[in-house]
Amino acid sequence: MSRVFNFNPGPAALPLPALERAREELLDYRGSGMSIMEHSHRGKDYEAVHNEAISLLREQLSISDDYHVLFLQGGASMQFAMVPMNLLTAGKSADYVLTGAWSEKALSEAKPMAALYSAAVRAAGTTGTGEGKEKSYVRAATEADVKADDAAVYLHLCSNETVHGVQFAVNGEFPHFGKAPVVADMSSDFLWRKIDVSRFGMIYAGAQKNVGPSGVTVVVVRKDLVDAGRKDLPKIFQYRTHVENNSLYNTPSTFGIYIVRNVLLWVKDQGGLAGIEKINREKAWLLYKTIDSHPGFYRCPVDAGSRSVMNVVFRLPSEALEEKFVSESKKAGLVGLKGHRSVGGIRASIYNATGLDAIHALTHFMNEFAKANG
Ligand SMILES: Cc1ncc(COP(=O)(O)O)c(C=O)c1O
Repeated sequence: MSRVFNFNPGPAALPLPALERAREELLDYRGSGMSIMEHSHRGKDYEAVHNEAISLLREQLSISDDYHVLFLQGGASMQFAMVPMNLLTAGKSADYVLTGAWSEKALSEAKPMAALYSAAVRAAGTTGTGEGKEKSYVRAATEADVKADDAAVYLHLCSNETVHGVQFAVNGEFPHFGKAPVVADMSSDFLWRKIDVSRFGMIYAGAQKNVGPSGVTVVVVRKDLVDAGRKDLPKIFQYRTHVENNSLYNTPSTFGIYIVRNVLLWVKDQGGLAGIEKINREKAWLLYKTIDSHPGFYRCPVDAGSRSVMNVVFRLPSEALEEKFVSESKKAGLVGLKGHRSVGGIRASIYNATGLDAIHALTHFMNEFAKANG
């Protein structure tokens, strides 16, 4: 078996032990004579896996009883719609902080809901400069960037902009943006370290970066927000429905949640999030150090304090060299390094399951490539 060094942005690398456990249990889950995929989602075997995944997540992030943990479907993209759908009401408004492509998308998806409800959504602050193709984001927002409305029903931010490689609170706490409950899209930096969940009204994340396969969306939501949610929606779109049914209102992504459980067991084996954070910081430090040690050749456009620990973006002197970098790195067994099509360049996504060995292989390749082409 040969496994590549996987730098895909999501779906992304999964921890090998989580996959191996799945392989071992694939055909016969714990002597039941069938795989977990073939079990009823209402049966004892599956329910044990489901509840174990929830309790492992609660344990790793120290999530208090003030919050519900849900496993939904539809990706983070569906949360772009579900959040305003549930929380906006006529005459009320919600704030959005814009720091990259995904927070922009969250705002644009909220607009039709606001129009339908005679409510409002607004950009309370942006770190974007330029327009159209020239638009760029190179840093997270500070308190000075945001004019928050304390009466807003929520303030939305994206903690890690996967496309732009811009992350909040890399070396400290999240800024305080007024009094409204903070709703955070943490799709690409959920579970990379311990965070203070009590700073948030709601956190959501597509699982396919740090937590598991695609098809599962993790939602951590404060009870009062669930209770305050609208009741005039189809049941499937109300958070309370999923809370009341422990995310088993309809058939969930059972195999996806099973893999999430395996990933969480692996996290625990790594010394929990403290152990995971230490390795993640070392990985990012090594990669940024390599970029900065070739100043005429590699360039990271992101401000030092906002450089993502999860998605490391950088440019080479020309697009032709970037193409060559991607194709030669692939031949060297380094996969998924092409930057997002909207911004170009190179992006190394180095989520939890991408190990130090992958970083050493990449930095070695980068040094050699700079020597040969610089
Ligand atoms: C930060 C962020 N938000 C939202 C999304 C959309 O997620 P999904 O494809 O699960 O809807 C992504 C996907 O890459 C992302 O990186």
